Amino acid sequence: MSEPIISLQNINVTFKQKKKTIEAVKSVSLEVEKGDVYGIVGYSGAGKSTLVRVINLLQIPTSGTVVVNGTTFFKANNPSAHRVQIGAKELRDKRRKIGMIFQHFNLLNERTVSENVAFALQNSKLSKEDKDAKVTELLELVDLTDRKDQYPSQLSGGQKQRVAIARALANDPEILISDEATSALDPKTTNQILALLKKLNEEYGLTIVLITHEMQAVKEVANKVAVMQDGQIIERGSLLEIFAQPEEQLTREFIETATNIDRAIDVISQQPVIQELNEGQQVFARLTYSGNNADEPLITSLYDKFNVVANILYGNVEVLQGEEVGSLLVILGGEPSSLEQALAYLADQGVAVEVLKGTQTV
Ligand SMILES: Nc1ncnc2c1ncn2[C@@H]1O[C@H](COP(=O)(O)OP(=O)(O)OP(=O)(O)O)[C@@H](O)[C@H]1O
Ligand SMILES: [Mg+2]
Repeated sequence: MSEPIISLQNINVTFKQKKKTIEAVKSVSLEVEKGDVYGIVGYSGAGKSTLVRVINLLQIPTSGTVVVNGTTFFKANNPSAHRVQIGAKELRDKRRKIGMIFQHFNLLNERTVSENVAFALQNSKLSKEDKDAKVTELLELVDLTDRKDQYPSQLSGGQKQRVAIARALANDPEILISDEATSALDPKTTNQILALLKKLNEEYGLTIVLITHEMQAVKEVANKVAVMQDGQIIERGSLLEIFAQPEEQLTREFIETATNIDRAIDVISQQPVIQELNEGQQVFARLTYSGNNADEPLITSLYDKFNVVANILYGNVEVLQGEEVGSLLVILGGEPSSLEQALAYLADQGVAVEVLKGTQTV
């Protein structure tokens, strides 16, 4: 397997204040492969920004190892004076290869769109002509050529973020860190920015670390997801794994913000079929499956194998990373022992089963 482009090992970040100590990041290891769009989700204060600032040493960790693109930036098991492994100049050079964008754009208000982008090239070795050509090319890429002489105050939020993206790309970075870059934007503009990030990933091979509290954003562009809580990564996996087989309660909460299933459960739970469920011989369950586990044969085999009848109350299929993730809300009816076998069989087939009401067997 190829070496990850970002490798964080056992990272701890502790902030010492007068009276208290805040452990913002606790023993986090994270490996990002080249070409990944790695989503990091978590509520406010989880430690997301602190963790990603460690990647380019904007935040020096208390301990751990940071390796980016084969260069060791930081290693803690050295005498403390030498924990940062590279010189200031080399770090500056390497940092230019790690672009960053933020929620509040951080543009220079006194400078035009072109000048904002050119500003990122001030330390570049390119000639004046090459710099100008680079700015022109970048503004074309983010579709802002016609705004090049305007000032940030004349732009919409989405346009400002596109200037910030052009600026972040000025030094041809291999990695782009996006810290809540769409949080201040409306849904339509958010989708435009996400589409641009996806294009940069697909067409230019840019590796992206995408911090957000919006699972919807992750669903649109990420191929991998880590969920952070209280300074730790509590769950991680491919987008498909996380959506199809979430293990932690917090992960479920995030996923539910990006699907309608939660609302469907609420509505259906109030209906007579569920209120009057014969709990000995019926279960109301949520089934989640991915890829080849097509719903139709599964449901048929429940009857063929166990004489269990499935009544589908709600169904939804989404395509994530080109693969299907299906969710069904069903009432399964049959003899208690058959129901038990049927549920075990489903789990065996890689279907995540959550019994919402009725015979509790799993
Ligand atoms: N420079 C600092 N000094 C002291 N405490 C800090 C500092 N930076 C962050 N923290 C604390 O570390 C914890 C994690 O903060 P962080 O900004 O990484 O969270 P986050 O997940 O990015 O949250 P948000 O979604 O609100 O941006 C918080 O408790 C925060 O108050
Ligand atoms: Mg943050």
